[in-house]
Amino acid sequence: MILFAIESSCDETSAAVVKAEDGRFTVLSNIVSSQIAIHALYGGVVPEIASRAHCEAITNVAREAVREAGIALSEIDAVAVTFAPGLIGSLLVGVSFAKSLAVSLGVPLIPVNHIEGHVAAAYIEHEELRPPYLALVVSGGHTSLYRVPDYTTFEEIGASRDDACGEAFDKVGRVMGLPYPGGAAMDKLATAYFEDPDPEKLSFPFPSPAVTDDSYDFSFSGLKTAVINTIHNEKQRLKTDTLPDDVRRAIAGSFTKTVCGGISKKLSAALKETGAGTLVLAGGVAANSHLRRAVAETCRRRKTAFSVPSLPLCGDNAAMIAAAGYHLLSAGITADSALNAFASDEAAEDYLAGLRSRHNP
Ligand code: KG4
Ligand code: ZN
Repeated sequence: MILFAIESSCDETSAAVVKAEDGRFTVLSNIVSSQIAIHALYGGVVPEIASRAHCEAITNVAREAVREAGIALSEIDAVAVTFAPGLIGSLLVGVSFAKSLAVSLGVPLIPVNHIEGHVAAAYIEHEELRPPYLALVVSGGHTSLYRVPDYTTFEEIGASRDDACGEAFDKVGRVMGLPYPGGAAMDKLATAYFEDPDPEKLSFPFPSPAVTDDSYDFSFSGLKTAVINTIHNEKQRLKTDTLPDDVRRAIAGSFTKTVCGGISKKLSAALKETGAGTLVLAGGVAANSHLRRAVAETCRRRKTAFSVPSLPLCGDNAAMIAAAGYHLLSAGITADSALNAFASDEAAEDYLAGLRSRHNP
């Protein structure tokens, strides 16, 4: 079957055409039009500008996805779309476009939760991956650990109690003067730090994001504030507005080490206590080279299988929405043309729970 998918929850307009056969996926196209250059001027995503940019881009992005896939519109069997969570104006652009397409083609419309889409990205390149497993989603908006007993059920067993992991990367990056979003630049600075063999090199002790109780929760706000205070203190100590490279590297390296350590600690406990045989790491921050290595090592030590999407499938893209959509459709979960968009994850889950109970009363 051929799925056409749309993703527009934040600052990327994406459309994909994906072929699905017995749970195996072939990505025929996955076009991503990023608004990063526009939002970089403001140091963060401006919701109103994001909606307008989606509106301008979506038709061309969709047309390009169909052209690159080399299919006729009549070959599309279903349309999947991110309907939540995210920026409401941005989501509405994708939802409205997807609805019109599904109605005009007379094919099912599948509502996909963006976070579940990130996890489904792992199915595309890991044919062997099957529930049950644990999934950690680390993105700009979310940091959550899920138990995934089947393809369409996500039970949150841990989450950040404040900032998302990616938000901490971006805010620290901004105070360090790195281009928005700071995550990828922080990754490179940390690499330079870890590759420096000097045993005397600077390092900073930062508070762990692993909450000190039996939960699988995280807290990134204390860590973020500690790092930002250190940046200001170092500027004062060195009487400069621009930190020297070795100090920037040490801050990025110490921050990254603390993030990886905190996440590995909670994951290790969760793997041990749940007895999960497989872990999926997903979301934009799953592109971080140090986190990928740290989580792979945690899984190796716990003898747990590990799946993480390749870098282009970690960030927001529509192919992951198609993969999630395929499993929802297989479970009979589709929306009608009254589908709405929701900013919050809770509203999205309530809506999907309603659809599930209608299908399995
Ligand atoms: O999943 P995503 O594309 O969008 C949301 O759903 O939020 O995640 C974006 C986040 C941003 O915070 C960005 O800085 C972060 O992913 N990110 C990274 C890296 N690449 C992207 N963070 C750390 N290291 C990276 N290499
Ligand atoms: Zn995302």
